[in-house]
Formats: sequence, structure tokens, C-alpha cells
Amino acid sequence: MFDPSDALSRMTVDEKAALVTGASMWTTAGVERLGVPSLVLSDGPHGVRRAAEGASSSDIYRTEPATAFPTACATGSSWDPALLEEIGAALADECRALGVDVLLGPGVNIKRSPLCGRNFEYFSEDPVLAGRLAAAWISGLQRGGVGASLKHFAANNQETGRMRVSAEVDERTLREIYFPAFEIAVTGARPASVMCSYNAINGTPAAEHEWLLTNVLRGDWGFEGFVVSDWGAVGDPVASLRAGLDLEMPGTRGRTAAALAGAVAAGTLSEADLDRAAGRILRATADLRAGHGQDRPAADFGRHDDLARRAAAESAVLLTNENGFLPLDPGRGGTLAVIGEFAHTPRFQGGGSSHVRPVRVRAALDELVAAVAGRREVVFTPGFTLDGAASPALRDEALGVATAAETVVMFLGLNEAQESEGFDRESIDLPAVQLDLLRAVAAVNPRIAVVLSNGGVVLTRHVERHARAVLEMWLGGQASGGAVADILLGVAEPGGRLAETIPLALSDNPSYVNFPGTPDQVLYGERHYVGYRWYDKAGREVAHPFGHGLSYTTFGYSDLRAEVPDPARAEATVAFTVTNTGGRAGSDVAQVYVTDVDASADRPERELKAFRKVRLAAGESRRVELRLTERDFAFWDVRRNRWTVEPGTFRVAVGASSRDLRLSADIDLAVPLSPVPLTLDSTLGEWTARRAARDALQRAMTDGDDRISRAFGADEALLSMVASMPLRRVLAIGTADISDDAATAMLEQANAEGRPDPVPGR
Ligand code: BGC
Repeated sequence: MFDPSDALSRMTVDEKAALVTGASMWTTAGVERLGVPSLVLSDGPHGVRRAAEGASSSDIYRTEPATAFPTACATGSSWDPALLEEIGAALADECRALGVDVLLGPGVNIKRSPLCGRNFEYFSEDPVLAGRLAAAWISGLQRGGVGASLKHFAANNQETGRMRVSAEVDERTLREIYFPAFEIAVTGARPASVMCSYNAINGTPAAEHEWLLTNVLRGDWGFEGFVVSDWGAVGDPVASLRAGLDLEMPGTRGRTAAALAGAVAAGTLSEADLDRAAGRILRATADLRAGHGQDRPAADFGRHDDLARRAAAESAVLLTNENGFLPLDPGRGGTLAVIGEFAHTPRFQGGGSSHVRPVRVRAALDELVAAVAGRREVVFTPGFTLDGAASPALRDEALGVATAAETVVMFLGLNEAQESEGFDRESIDLPAVQLDLLRAVAAVNPRIAVVLSNGGVVLTRHVERHARAVLEMWLGGQASGGAVADILLGVAEPGGRLAETIPLALSDNPSYVNFPGTPDQVLYGERHYVGYRWYDKAGREVAHPFGHGLSYTTFGYSDLRAEVPDPARAEATVAFTVTNTGGRAGSDVAQVYVTDVDASADRPERELKAFRKVRLAAGESRRVELRLTERDFAFWDVRRNRWTVEPGTFRVAVGASSRDLRLSADIDLAVPLSPVPLTLDSTLGEWTARRAARDALQRAMTDGDDRISRAFGADEALLSMVASMPLRRVLAIGTADISDDAATAMLEQANAEGRPDPVPGR
């Protein structure tokens, strides 16, 4: 293999400029004379979509067959990093078999609004869950010798205007909500690459955002790979390169390379900037090809299909299950009516750049028929067409079948035209035709289980009114039909828990009035109150809370111990026992939420900080131990411009969803925190809250007209009225006359004391 530094030192400016822009839709430019091979990049992320031989770049669905694993909205609901790692490893095998060096994924953008057309490609509304799952997926993939490209960095939370809209987001919100999934994946799994998003952030395109691509990504998180543009995201290649972009994709037929070489010649781009980017591509190329050349070991598609089936079941969320309606008894007499075209034509993946040509697809109907063969009769009727048009004939036929059946399983969902990359949804309702049919079927046979296939959440309360059980399968990949049969018949457990709140109405969502914004700007006005953080803060009822999902068995939680080894350090160990209290084996996801009881900043009611999926046999118990680190107690403190833990009480709650908390314990952290330095722009209230500052202020003012100083002692009402005014203004509009020297002395005295900030309310 070539030596990257040696190759760089021998390359011409033209060669380097060519290297930092793609050679084609999916390849980088190699440097033949120096033995530098070209890399193949491919979408991802739920299956490999290597473009078929001879496919044109607009022919996006002509790809080589590959396993279509469950999409991220599904695997996000698995809450199972080990499963994601297995999927990553299987994808690496298929990448190797198909000659792919970098798989473009995972996508870790936060589900800000349920309307985002690409929510099916993203894991969660919570950054810790998204980040841990992504890190596991990347580790599995990269251990197999294939690079990941974590995307889309950053604040790409909608499809409307995605190539020109500016996400207007404050730094605290970025740091607490939109960055951590990237940060956890970068620091925990070191992806080969990060893909910048199309959109701008606070006015600067992500592809030209130096603070984002260099200061935060490399400076704060230590990223060492290369940054690739989203396909076609680069407007100004010179500005992008300077800001920290390393590879523009796809290739621009030499246009960008010429512009970059020209800029170096003209002195408007330093060759050092070009070297930096070219060096990163060379290093990544050497690393990715180090263990193997062009060899293509065969992938085991049969084993991957089994994995896809297991993963789909682990990701399926049983939302309701009245009196144990599911699982169905395959030996029970009577006809099983299967109604809904989705049983026959499965919806198992989303549209756009993640679309995979599956190796094999099996419909739930065929799987069910095979599974109950000889024991129960299954009668299928489509009930509706996938285009949403009403069909009285199909409806009547469905009612006839339902009337004669012992039990009905209805397959409802969204079709591919209703959600995809490239546009957002306008509603989160299921199609009216399907809901009408459900109501009509329920009137003739109330024994109904509903199976849902959709990427973004749909409103479920109308469905639940008419169904005894509702099983959310998401877009569960090529083997989801088998997983449905497994779950309906109790061969497998519904292992999923919601990674996203299901609201009662779209208008309950915190981004409702700010989504998708104007063509140029979208204001993230809800700030860090995204998903359950908002529903909990506002005390809103929801259809199903974040973390919810039923099992076929039940679980008990007991004996919580939250221990802080050293109160001066923000670290704790949380241990508790989970017991399978039901009659069959199953899994639960134990979730740990942290609340800063004494917070001086506005913080969410609770935030997910740790979780563990626990599989237990009937009657079995297991002790679970999880660690909380400093970051788990911190918030992004804009005044100090860093993560801060405030001393005080924190509540640690453990449970089976964000609203099913079974155990809680308070811990006290006596972490040292030096006060924010006071300035003349600090408010009078901030000055008077600290003894040293108050004394210094009073001393400085005793010589002047003492309207204000009198107020300190005597007039509380006046004091609270002016408390929010910066001291500079108080001094300016009052007649208090403080000389520059007195002001300097006052500032020194006020800031001399290094004791912790007093936190209001304590
Ligand atoms: C998408 C990316 C994708 C790329 C290449 C873009 O339009 O946003 O997610 O990886 O195309 O297909």
C-alpha cells in the first residue's frame, strides 16, 4: 500500500485538486502513477445500494441486489446497540462483496417534527439513543473494513427547502439536541467520514461552516476522518475547502478541480489548505484498503435475511394489547381474515437515496399462511388500493370476509408516495380510506389486530379505538413479513420501544408553528424542548410516550441504588433489579432518566441518559448496573460557554418509558463551580445576589447620589424593578457617579471571591 505522506509530497497541485473532488457519482479520483486507488462510496444505510453496471446517475433504483435491513426508524426502536453492531457487520460483508469502501450512513438527525419526510432514515427524537445506536452500527461496519459516513451534519431536520433553508438554532440547542448523536458516534466509534448537510445553519451553509466542520467536529470532538459534502451541497468550493470540507461529491467533471487549482495559483487559496484535505483523503484511502485490495469475499445473504427478520421483530413496537389479544393461537378454530393490501404488497423501506433492491421479499400474508398451514384457514382480501382511492367493491368484500372470520388482522400504513426523501408530509393521519374501512370492519367483527407499516409516526388513537391490539412494524426491511408472522403467532416477542413520542394531534408537537418555516429560514423556536422534553415540560397528554412498548410478558423493577463515589465529582452508579414477572420469556428496555432538581437554567423535566435491553426467562431476575458520567448531569451553559454541572440535587428515575417511571432516587452532587465573572453588563440582580459583589457595589456608590444604594437597604420593590437592568444602565440613568477607577476596583473586588454561584431556590 502507498504511504500517504510520501504520496502527498509527490503530488502536483492539479492532482491534489482532483483528489478532493469526486471522479464520478460514486468514486474518488485515484492517482495511478503513485499507486493511490480510487475509493467507491455507496448509499446506505439500511442496505448496500451499489449502482448496477451501466446504470446512469439518474437511474437511482438500478442497483445490485442486497439485503434490505429494517430502516433506522425501526432499528431505532430496538434500543439494542448489540443488534445494530451485528447489522453493521453484515453490511460490511455485503459492501466487501460488492466492492464498496464507504457506506453513506448512518443518519443521526433528530426527529424534530413527525412531518419530516426522512424520519424513516433517522433513529430518534433523543440524541443519546440515536448516538449510541449509531456508534454501535459504525463499529460493526468498520470492524469489517468498511468506512462509515455519518450524516447529515447538521440540523438537517426537514426536507422542505433542504438545499437552501437556513436552520436558525441557538448554540445551546445545537449542543444539547442536534449535536450529541454526532458527538457520541464520532468520539465512540471514529467513523471514517462525516457528511455535511445541504442546509445552512444560522446563515452559513453547512459545507462552508468552519465552526461546525473544524472547531466543533475536529477541535471539540477530535474527528480525524474526512468530511464529504452531501451530494451537490457545495456552492463555493474554495470557501468549503477553507472551512474544513475535504471531499466534494459527486464529481463535477473537472470543474471544481480547475477552480481549486486556479485559486491556489491566484493566491486566494493556500496550498496548505489543499494539502490538508488531500492528505485526509489519502490517509482514509490507505486505511480502508490496508487489510484488503480489490478482493470480493462472498456475502452470506441467507444468514443476513435471518438477521433482518430477527431485527424486524426486535424493532416492532406493540402499542396496545387488550387482555392479551396477541399473540394469536394458531390452533384456535375459525378463519383468520387478513385484510389490507400491505399484507400482500409489503411496505418495508423508504424512497430516495436509501432505497435498496432487496435480495428477497416475503409478504406477511404468505408467511402467515405457511405458519398456520393445516391448523387455521387464512382468507385474504385487499380492502383498499395503495393509491388511497376509495373502492366500494373492495370495502364490501372486506366486510363479508370480516363477518365470516373468527379474528381479523388488518394491515394499514403509508405508501411510498406519502413519505420519502425530498419532501415532508403534510399530515400524520393514516389515509381516510383505511380508517373508514377499519371502522366498518370493527362494526361487524371487533376481534381486530392492526399491523402498521410506516416510517414517520402516524396518529394511532383512531386506530386504537377499533382494534384490540396495535403492532407498529415501521419500515421493517425485506424480512418484515416473516417477523410479523412470528410476532402475531408468538414465535417472537415484539422487542421494540418507541424512539419517538406519538402525539394525540400534530398540533401538540413543539415545532408545529415553526415547521417547515419560510423558503429561506426555519426557526428552531422550541429550542431544546424537542419530543418528550417538550411534552413533559408542558404536561401534555400523548397517545404513547417515548420509550413505550408492550411485551408479551410483564416486568417488575426493584432495589434501586444510586451511588456517588465522590460528591465532588459528577459521576454515579445506578443499579437496579429487573424481574420477568410474567409467564413467558421476553425483553424489556430499562431506561434511566436524570432530572436536575435545583437547576438555575431552564432544563427539561427529565432526560434519557442510559438504557439497557434486558432479556429474561419467565420468573428470572437480573441486576443491571449503569454508569452516569459528568456529561449526564451537565447542560450547555451559554454564560460560561461550556458544559456545566451545577451543584445540588439530581433525581435518577428508572422505568419502562419516559412516563412509566417505577423507581427513583435523589443524589447530591457537591461539584465545585466557580462563578461567572461579573461585568458592568451583568444585571443589578446578578450583582446583588453575591455578597462580595453587593458589598463592592455599595462601597463604590456611597460617595455619589445614593438613590440606588438607598434602595438596596430599604426599597425591595424598587430593587426588583431594576434587578434585570445591566449595571451599566442603572448607573447611566441613575445619578450615581462612579469614576473609572472606582469601577475597576469594584469589578476586581466583586470577582475576587471564588465561591460557587448561589443557585436560586436553595
Ligand atoms: C442524500 C444523502 C445521500 C446522497 C447520495 C443525498 O441527496 O441527502 O443522504 O447519501 O444523496 O445519494
